[in-house]
Amino acid sequence: MIDFHTHVLPGIDDGAANFEETKQLLLSQKNQNIEIVVATPHYNHECPIEKFVDHRDSSLSYVRKKIDVDIPEIVPAAEVALYTGLSEEPDLKRLCIGETDYILIEMPYFYWNSWYYDELYRLVNNRGVHPIIAHLERYASMPGQVSRFNKLLEQDVLVQINASSLLKFFPRQVVKELWSKNAVSVLGSDCHDPKSRPCTISAACRVILRKFGADGLEKMMSNAEAILENKIVTL
Ligand SMILES: [Fe+2]
Repeated sequence: MIDFHTHVLPGIDDGAANFEETKQLLLSQKNQNIEIVVATPHYNHECPIEKFVDHRDSSLSYVRKKIDVDIPEIVPAAEVALYTGLSEEPDLKRLCIGETDYILIEMPYFYWNSWYYDELYRLVNNRGVHPIIAHLERYASMPGQVSRFNKLLEQDVLVQINASSLLKFFPRQVVKELWSKNAVSVLGSDCHDPKSRPCTISAACRVILRKFGADGLEKMMSNAEAILENKIVTL
């Protein structure tokens, strides 16, 4: 099992506030049979990429040195807020997931201008970097709004959904609509802390099994493995 979207690293964003919260999150993930955690602290363009990567990597080293219990493997990555010029960044690859050419992209929470689509197009076609759109279901406040994603889904992008969205009625309906469009690729908890935004992957997997069957769950798991091996994912 892979948790594809997490804020487990301490003191780098609005996720884990300190080592103790990091440890609790990682222990919870271990207890949910998660073997690999993709650490995706928020990145926005106001911070130079090099500075962000240094901060993230030193936070990860600190956790690896200090942790005294068995935890999942942690893969460094970022949740990158899309901005004009991202596709031209010389250090773009440093924001990708581990050593892969995949990048987790956070879309803006307001109207998507055409340049957002252009930027995604350039990531793929100019730089060979494959966008994975973080928690797409969160951009539809109600079921029936999935059609607004059509233009996005026509592009060469993958989609990550949040485990917590499967546990509430309205977001689950949005996920179902995305699923019916064959638009769901991978699952992440988007956990931020042990109390208010914990990891709920195992509960979400039970919902996936019930709603989409063992094949559906297996497909998400094999997609996640393929991405971490930097293989092409076919939907
Ligand atoms: Fe996130």
